[in-house]
This record gives sequence, structure tokens and C-alpha cells, in this order.
Amino acid sequence: MAEYILAIDQGTTGSTVALMDAGGRLCASVNYEFPQIYPHPGWVEHRPAEIWASVLKGIRAVLRKGVCKPREIVAIGITNQRETAVLWDRDSSEAVNNAIVWQCRRTTDFCETLRGAGHEKTIRRRSGLVLDPYFSASKYRWLLRNTPGIRGRLKDGRLAAGTIDSYLIWQLTAGAAHVTDISNASRTSLMNLEEGGWDHRLLDIFEVPADILPRIVPSSGILGHTRGVPGLPDGIPIAGVAGDQQAALFGQACFGRGEAKCTFGTGSFIVMNTGAEVVRSSAGLLSTVAWQLGERSKPVYALEGGAFVCGAAVQWLRDGLGIIRKATEIEALAASVEDSGGVEFVPALTGLGAPHWAPEARGTITGLTRGSHRGHLARATLDAMALQNADILRAMEEELGKRMKPLRVDGGAAANNLLMQIQADVLGRKLIRPSMIETTVAGACYLAGLGVGLWQSQKEIREIWSVEREFAVQMSTAARRKRLSAWNDAVKRTLL
Ligand code: G3P
Repeated sequence: MAEYILAIDQGTTGSTVALMDAGGRLCASVNYEFPQIYPHPGWVEHRPAEIWASVLKGIRAVLRKGVCKPREIVAIGITNQRETAVLWDRDSSEAVNNAIVWQCRRTTDFCETLRGAGHEKTIRRRSGLVLDPYFSASKYRWLLRNTPGIRGRLKDGRLAAGTIDSYLIWQLTAGAAHVTDISNASRTSLMNLEEGGWDHRLLDIFEVPADILPRIVPSSGILGHTRGVPGLPDGIPIAGVAGDQQAALFGQACFGRGEAKCTFGTGSFIVMNTGAEVVRSSAGLLSTVAWQLGERSKPVYALEGGAFVCGAAVQWLRDGLGIIRKATEIEALAASVEDSGGVEFVPALTGLGAPHWAPEARGTITGLTRGSHRGHLARATLDAMALQNADILRAMEEELGKRMKPLRVDGGAAANNLLMQIQADVLGRKLIRPSMIETTVAGACYLAGLGVGLWQSQKEIREIWSVEREFAVQMSTAARRKRLSAWNDAVKRTLL
């Protein structure tokens, strides 16, 4: 009997469901978008039931492609948008409020209060993260204080909390497993990074009761079995789980210390494997867990810098401004001009992440002249997607005191050759694009495959991974300096 892994990649704007065979080939993949909710400026929500419906629709659609029979699925791997916080009722399995999405800035004031009260250092030291509304902890607190009927549920022990991985595992197992993997837990601001468990001091600071939280489990290994999922037999093991950026790092086979990847998704995230060591940053980068391969293995750590808006900037050009009809049109439009003509777009549409951490910052477009047109704005958008990564990489190299290995790229926008060339140029570093740019899905499959013994070691996975194209630096050092300096001026104005 052939063996397949089913992967669920639950992202910020859509859910992908895919099938991988035992040779590591992606055989089928479907994606369904679901509604984004913006109740106030700076607020972002999802309806958990719509997320779950998009996953179920994806499972049905991918099976309909006829690649395999449901009973040939030997494991499920999950990867997900991280930090997004959900509260649900254990009896009904229904969410008690909308999920607060990682991009949401509503808890900015509370984070400022914590800063004022002197908690910043403690949070940083214990969680490895900066104090920012990005992470789940302040979102849980907001939900606990602002959702009607919470008190009764809390008293009866009916309330469950979790990030999207946890919510999906609950649904897939009909409530039999309330767990989260360690890479997702490390993004909540509630986990002690070195001990790998919920940290009581952090729970106190963020006023989150421990008993609503899931059990923390390794990223690979069986943590539950399907039950009552339409279209799937009961008993399929869920055997791999990781936050999407960590899954992409795994999917890029960045198994060695110092190996790094950049994923171009809704946001863009550079993550570097730091091995068994927690590297602490003073430059606004995050120390986080990359993965843990089974109970007996130690966690592998990573250093991360993320820009909140990357592909989302292209979506904004499409949906907010209407200057393109499809996201893929941006490459040709941006290539229609020589350069951005002095236009700078700083896409701080949901504040600025690493290395600036300015939740109140808002997007700016500067340098417009009478001759500026949509081609310049498209080009400035691609430039910005690359330039914000350059800021992060520079911070990372300063932190480590050495140059990084060539950066591996993935995610939807990594298919954009113009963007990749701009990225190599403004970084001043070679880029490597693998044959499979769906590395997030691949990472979830690899973790699940290792979890059920379909593959025995990371070495086998490294052999599956291959290079499709490299992008060498074509820009002169002087031109790069000039480009970075214009960008830095624009960022400064955004931070004013
Ligand atoms: O931390 C947020 C990140 O996990 C979201 O990823 O791919 O949905 O932009 P993505």
C-alpha cells in the first residue's frame, strides 16, 4: 500500500491542504481563502469556525483529486499562522469569540502599561521575545476580559485556549487532545524558553490562568488521532506540528547551526537555526524554539526577525488601491520602470516589527512627484519587501558578529524573479531558491513523516531537498548604500 502524508498549512489569509508521497513529492495541493475581519483600524480578527471550515473544504478537495485513498494517509502534519489566539468551549468545541490575529494591535496600550511597570526585562529574559502586542499572551488577556460569559466557563473548567495548531488538533481529534507544539508555545510570551514549560511569572504578568492552556508537546511524534473528521478515517496519527516559520526552516532542510531561510508570505520572516544554544539579541531579534524532534531530543533554537507586511502589501495594492487585479501582476508592473523613481513605500500597515518594534507606526508613501505612476509604486513595494529583510539580516549579522551563509528563500512571492534579484542586491548576499518553494507544507510533512517513522532521519530529508536557482548579487556596493540610505530615511519618517 502506498503511503502519504496529509499536510494542513493554516495561514493568515488562507488554508492549504496538501499530500506528499513517501518520496517527498508534493502530489496535490489546494488553498482556500477565508474572510479577514478589521473591526477598527489596527485590529485584525478571524472567525475560528471559518478557519476550520476552510480546512475541511481543503481536505475534501485534495482527496477528490484522487491521488490516494484516505486509508493510505499514514500521518497528518500541521503548520500554522503563529501567535493568533483562540478561546473555545470544551463542551461545544466552538470558539467563544473571534480569534485575535497576530497582526492585531489592540493590546498596544496594555503592553505599554507592562513596560511602564518594569516588566519588559523579565518578559524578554524568560520568553526570549520582545514585549509587543504581536504575541499571544496579551491577546488571551483581552479575550478573557472582553468576551461575554467567560466567568462561568472559567469556573466550570469549560474554557480552553490555544493558538491555531491547538484549535485545529482539538477539532481533528474531537476534543481528545488539547496540546500545542513547543515551537508554537514559544511564540505566546508565556513559555519559559529554556525550560520549555509554561512560566508562572509570565502567566501572572499577563493574567492568564494555567489551566486553560494546552499541554506542550514536541514538534514531531504522535500527539493524537483523527476522530469524526468528514472524509478521513478515524485513527490517523497527527504526528508533526510546527509554527509556519519554523516548519519552513525545517522544510528548507536548515538543520545546521547558522543555516537560515526567508519566507515571503503575508509577512516575511528570516529565521536562523542556532542549534542547542539560545542566542539572545540586543538588536530587536527574537530567540525562539525551532523544533523538538520527539520527547527524548532537546529543542533546537532559532533567531528570528519578521516584517509584518510583505505579501500583504501586494494584497493592499490589489484590494485597497485597486492598481492591480491579481497579485501576480505586480512583477510585470514593477519591471515596467527602471527603478522606483524616488518613491518609497514603508508598508507599516500593522506597525513595524523587527528590528524596530513600533506598533503605532503606520504606512507611508514618500517621494511622489508629478511623474510618479502605479509602476513606481509597484516597484517601491517590491523594494520595500526586500529592504525590510535587509534591515533584519543586518541586525542578525551584527548580533552574531559574522556573515551569514547564503539565504534560502521560499513562500509564494519567492517565485517572483524580479523580487528575488532585488533581494539579493539589497542584501548583498547570494540567495538560494529550492525546487520546492512550498517549504512550509514540506516542513509539516517531514515532521509528521519522521514522527511515524516514514523517514528515519534528517539526512533522508536533506537528500530530498534540492536547489532550483541561485540569485547572485548584481548591484554595486555604492548603489546599494545609496538605496539603503534612501530607505532608512523613509523608515525614520514612519517612526516619527
Ligand atoms: O508570526 C506570524 C506568521 O506565522 C504568519 O505567517 O505565512 O501567514 O504570513 P504567514
